[in-house]
Amino acid sequence: MVVKGFNILRGGAVLSSAIALSVAGAHAQAQTAATGSVDAERRAAETVRQMTPAEKVILTHGILALPLFPGAPPMPADAVPGAGYVPGIPRLGIPPLRETDASLGVAYAAGMRKDNATALPSGLAMASSWNPELIEQGGRMIGGEARAKGYNVMLAGGVNLMRDPRGGRNFEYLGEDPLLAGTLVGHAIRGIQSNRIIATIKHFALNGQETGRHFADARISEANAQESDLLAFKIGIEIGNPGSVMCAYNPVNGAPSCANDWLLNRVLKRDWGYHGFVMSDWGAVPNLQAAMNGLDQQSGEQLDTEVFFGDKLAAAAAGDSAWSARLNDMNKRILTAIYANGLDRDPARPGGAIDYAANARVAEEVARQGIVLLRNQGDILPLARTAQNILVIGGLATNGVMSGAGSSQVIGEGGPAVSIPLGGTGPFASFTNITYHPSSPFAAIQAMAPQARLRFRNGRSVSEARTEAAKADLVIVFANQWSGEGFDQADLALPDGQDALIDAVASANPKTVVVLQTGGPILMPWLDKTAAVIEAWYPGIRGGPAIASVLFGETNPAGKLPITFPASEAQLPRPKVDGFDRLEPDFIGRAPPGAAPLTVNYDIEGSDLGYRWNTRSGHKALFPFGHGLSYTTFEYGDLKLKGLTATFTVRNTGKREGSTVAQLYLTRTPGGAQQRLAGFQRLSLDPGESRTVSVKLEPRIVADFAENEWVIQRGNYGFALGSSAEELAQSANVKLPARRWKQ
Ligand code: BGC
Repeated sequence: MVVKGFNILRGGAVLSSAIALSVAGAHAQAQTAATGSVDAERRAAETVRQMTPAEKVILTHGILALPLFPGAPPMPADAVPGAGYVPGIPRLGIPPLRETDASLGVAYAAGMRKDNATALPSGLAMASSWNPELIEQGGRMIGGEARAKGYNVMLAGGVNLMRDPRGGRNFEYLGEDPLLAGTLVGHAIRGIQSNRIIATIKHFALNGQETGRHFADARISEANAQESDLLAFKIGIEIGNPGSVMCAYNPVNGAPSCANDWLLNRVLKRDWGYHGFVMSDWGAVPNLQAAMNGLDQQSGEQLDTEVFFGDKLAAAAAGDSAWSARLNDMNKRILTAIYANGLDRDPARPGGAIDYAANARVAEEVARQGIVLLRNQGDILPLARTAQNILVIGGLATNGVMSGAGSSQVIGEGGPAVSIPLGGTGPFASFTNITYHPSSPFAAIQAMAPQARLRFRNGRSVSEARTEAAKADLVIVFANQWSGEGFDQADLALPDGQDALIDAVASANPKTVVVLQTGGPILMPWLDKTAAVIEAWYPGIRGGPAIASVLFGETNPAGKLPITFPASEAQLPRPKVDGFDRLEPDFIGRAPPGAAPLTVNYDIEGSDLGYRWNTRSGHKALFPFGHGLSYTTFEYGDLKLKGLTATFTVRNTGKREGSTVAQLYLTRTPGGAQQRLAGFQRLSLDPGESRTVSVKLEPRIVADFAENEWVIQRGNYGFALGSSAEELAQSANVKLPARRWKQ
């Protein structure tokens, strides 16, 4: 659907006036992209014909481009330190591939590139904006930086759905819903690739936990996978047309993702008709056979037991026509992605100009739109700029804002504000540093309220905090939960005694505002004692001003949760992250010698993740998916359905301009009650303004997947319009004819 003449970023930086959100739109874009790549494919096939047997195993494997391995040969002269490097073939005009992580910006590369980059807020912050165009703008920005630093492949496009709120990489991804996450990742990819570089949707698939990440076998039926995680990938690929797909570490239904014939050959390449290439995750290739099972490129080969996709692959291709055909296809796919994205015609070179100030403004806009106002008793927020005597406690709020860790770690200009080692042994111990970006919320609050008497206590002493809180007019407590790649959370409690701190402070002063920076949902045993809570996630390089801007109402918050905050861990499909209790913490996550197999049963919740699981189980969330307050109020009305097009009105019933996200849920099928997000629309309204909007609902959300087809049964379907999964305002029914279709 295209809503015309409608600016979702009132007063904001850059967004255009037309919003394309629908499946129809996505298909049209996929076709354009596919048409564009027909030429690329033809050229690729022609180049493959010119390649010698030796040249055919150049593009098929690459290294981790960081000199971390003792005794290893020096880095190639044309490599840029980063996640990966694949040599080019100058004779044929094929450029080397220089690869960088990741979805939140150009990653730090262990400091070896000796420069910095602009850190977007976390994936969950981005997803909370429910704003595809903004996410595309973010993608454009980080892709521009990647290009200027000489990279032509970004390992960005993380879209694993949140199956467990304790998952260590949830912060990198886009939440629990396939339509929302798939739409947003598609736009992120489009933004990145607009720089004539390749983006990488990842980790394909079902990479839902970090514990035992190399061997935790995700078990799931095909229908459940297609209706959830795979659908997010499919929608993302349709919208963004990424040059590459990165397969995951974990096995799926017994076969490693990177050697998984079902996932790679059947689903991705045959049923979805994907023409780009599949690259492995770093150290995820089990054997040469992975090539026959659909893998096109071995990445970070020093991390595998062998270089399978070099001489071994050449030898296999020399003696066998099936292998030789496969090798040609591998090259053709990699070259298609290179040509379709113009990597050869307009090569990325290091030393390009970067406007860090402008890019920081993009990061700040994403943070502003991604902050979620969870609670606001008695409208304590926004704070008056004339506020007096404010006590700020905890969270290193005078120093900066937290960021998540692992391969996605970006370090901003000026280096980290704080980097706290957490201890531990082994080569990856430094990966576990807690890093803060230099963007102090305390300084930003002071700038917003220059007359306020602002004081800070670090929160290490609960009794001191309690005493000081009682004396203040208002208290703002910062509470942080750090997470990172390679490790899951033990539970959903805030660490380091912060729950006790908030409880004591809020008991001493009812005017307590809590600002959370977390990697995912947490429990809030102190919630009823507080006046307000905002979720700032990991808010990126300009997180401080973004937080202050929401606190003081310069930004009217419009972020909506892209995940469910459970009321207790007992509500979750599984009591613990599988394997967490029996495995030693291990960044690599390979099976220790003699370890019992580790399986994760995703058929427990099947395709009903988060809010869908809650509906099925009758649970009420602490804060539901889609929830987020504003400093104004909205009313929904006149919901009508014509086939799968929903029309309705939204009215701003409050006193100030604001944005909201209208959410349309499927609530009933002929098979019974359901809850599935089928469409959404973010929009901005002036006070008193009302607008009629129409949204095309996603047929694959309405359908079930059965025997390799999407199936809509004839009968009555119920839909509801609301402002969260648990706040449904309007409902309507529609009779749909029977329909079946292939992918
Ligand atoms: C991560 C990927 C990343 C790759 C390269 C792996 O450990 O799982 O997301 O792109 O490393 O750094």
